[in-house]
Amino acid sequence: MLSFFTKNSSLIFLFFTILIHYSISVSAKCHVDDESGLLAFKKGIVSDPSGMLSKWKSGTDCCAWPGIQCRDTNRVHELALYGQLDKPNGYLAGTISPTLAKLKELNAVYFQDLRNISGPFPSFLFSLQNIGYVYIENNKLSGKLPENLGQLSNLIALSLAGNRFSGPIPSSIGGLTQLIQLKLHNNLLTGTIPASFKALKNVTALSLDHNQLSGAIPDFFTETHKLIFLELSHNKLSGNIPGSIAAIAPNLRFLQLGHNALSGTIPDFLGKFQALDTLDLSWNKFSGTVPKTFGNLTKIFNLDLSHNSLVDPFPQMNVKGIESLDLSYNNFNLVNIPKWVASSPIIYSLKLAKCGLKFKLDDFKPVETYFYDYIDLSENEITGSPVKLLNRTDYLVGFYASGNQLKFDFGSLRIVKTLKDLDISRNLVFGKVPQDVAGLRMLNVSHNHLCGQLPATKFAATAFAGNDCLCGSPLPACKKT
Ligand SMILES: *[C@@H]1O[C@H](CO)[C@@H](O)[C@H](O)[C@H]1NC(C)=O
Ligand SMILES: *[C@@H]1O[C@H](CO)[C@@H](O)[C@H](O)[C@H]1NC(C)=O
Ligand SMILES: *[C@@H]1O[C@H](CO)[C@@H](O)[C@H](O)[C@H]1NC(C)=O
Ligand SMILES: *[C@@H]1O[C@H](CO)[C@@H](O)[C@H](O)[C@H]1NC(C)=O
Ligand SMILES: *[C@@H]1O[C@H](CO)[C@@H](O)[C@H](O)[C@H]1NC(C)=O
Repeated sequence: MLSFFTKNSSLIFLFFTILIHYSISVSAKCHVDDESGLLAFKKGIVSDPSGMLSKWKSGTDCCAWPGIQCRDTNRVHELALYGQLDKPNGYLAGTISPTLAKLKELNAVYFQDLRNISGPFPSFLFSLQNIGYVYIENNKLSGKLPENLGQLSNLIALSLAGNRFSGPIPSSIGGLTQLIQLKLHNNLLTGTIPASFKALKNVTALSLDHNQLSGAIPDFFTETHKLIFLELSHNKLSGNIPGSIAAIAPNLRFLQLGHNALSGTIPDFLGKFQALDTLDLSWNKFSGTVPKTFGNLTKIFNLDLSHNSLVDPFPQMNVKGIESLDLSYNNFNLVNIPKWVASSPIIYSLKLAKCGLKFKLDDFKPVETYFYDYIDLSENEITGSPVKLLNRTDYLVGFYASGNQLKFDFGSLRIVKTLKDLDISRNLVFGKVPQDVAGLRMLNVSHNHLCGQLPATKFAATAFAGNDCLCGSPLPACKKT
């Protein structure tokens, strides 16, 4: 009995296997609504020079079309189209058809870097129960964000970065309580940051930078917020750094507030942000001293306090390796380059323009020079010669030291192959202009004591003006002797 059953069941099993297999391959064909929704989207595209949608054809399985992913329910689950910013024809032009509302089970839509997709905010999203991820980045969508944006309450990630949305951020945005990521940067948004952002407790990355937002940064942060990235730079925000930001100190790693109109002193509590990797307060109106508590920012890699009105004394930092530092254009009198800078093993960008530096450049001996890309020591009272420093920085891209008292023979300066920009104008440099400056992108050696015939270069006369006896194109011809 048992053997009979086993024998026959294997036949039955085979039969069912074929049946199941057949029914799976049938059901893998995409749902008719999804196909018609996608074909309507294709109709809205007026130009597709790279053929991104060329395989989207009626009667073929839309689950197999490039950019489409279906769930085993045979419904489209993800729609992902990526342009190529570096290729002239890597774009799509047209509008987003509202018929995409037929894709009832769509969970994720990625229209990224398509560049020429225009029109208003795609309202089809409001018809979708399951929509969780929306990334419509680097296109040309415009108009206002819908008042009822907050109704998309299942959203986990929303990015509309790099479009032309204007007008205010609707306060209903506080309804998107499941959000983990919210990116609205690079648009034309105006008005204030709505207080309803307070409800977005689970957001770890918030970027509103490069808009025209004004008013104060709301003072609504609490320990329950999980922010790791807070990017508000390049807006018109004013007022102080709100005290409640201290509450998110344990997690915050990127705080970018540069290029605004923020004022007041830099609060002591920023020293509590011990996870902080990047702090950008540049191009604001901060005054007073940098708090001593900054000594506790031991993990900071990128610190930009440039273009404010900060004064001495600059605190002793205990950071092990700074990568980039910009303290330029404040009211500091640092005299020397701080030891914690010279001892950094990984620094690539050092910008200390107009920092009251008064030392001999030959005495600046950083422990490691391998990573240096940029050095800006402009507008200080630095003496001596950069020859030894530039002999050690094999990968330097820019050296800026205009307005100092550097005194050296230009001919002995090594111009490394990577160097693109060299500004040593308004110093005491002597000797001849060497031939190998010709390959630079930018050169300024004006107002020094250089002499002799210029090598052939593409640079304008202003790059060489105000020297002792330079001659030859673009300056007047040398006198025959
Ligand atoms: C795409 O956008 C670029 C830049 O705005 C524009 O020059 C070009 O004409 C657009 N092409 C199409 C087909 O819309
Ligand atoms: C935040 O995320 C947790 C899970 O990580 C979830 O349980 C909670 O409901 C979310 N909070 C809100 C306000 O959505
Ligand atoms: C650094 O933090 C410790 C506690 O975390 C605190 O006692 C100390 O005052 C802080 N140092 C500075 C310079 O703020
Ligand atoms: C530049 O470095 C090389 C070794 O890398 C050394 O031989 C040379 O003397 C140095 N020149 C100056 C001016 O320091
Ligand atoms: C060179 O520097 C001088 C003084 O620093 C400045 O006035 C001039 O505009 C600069 N010229 C070029 C071509 O950068």
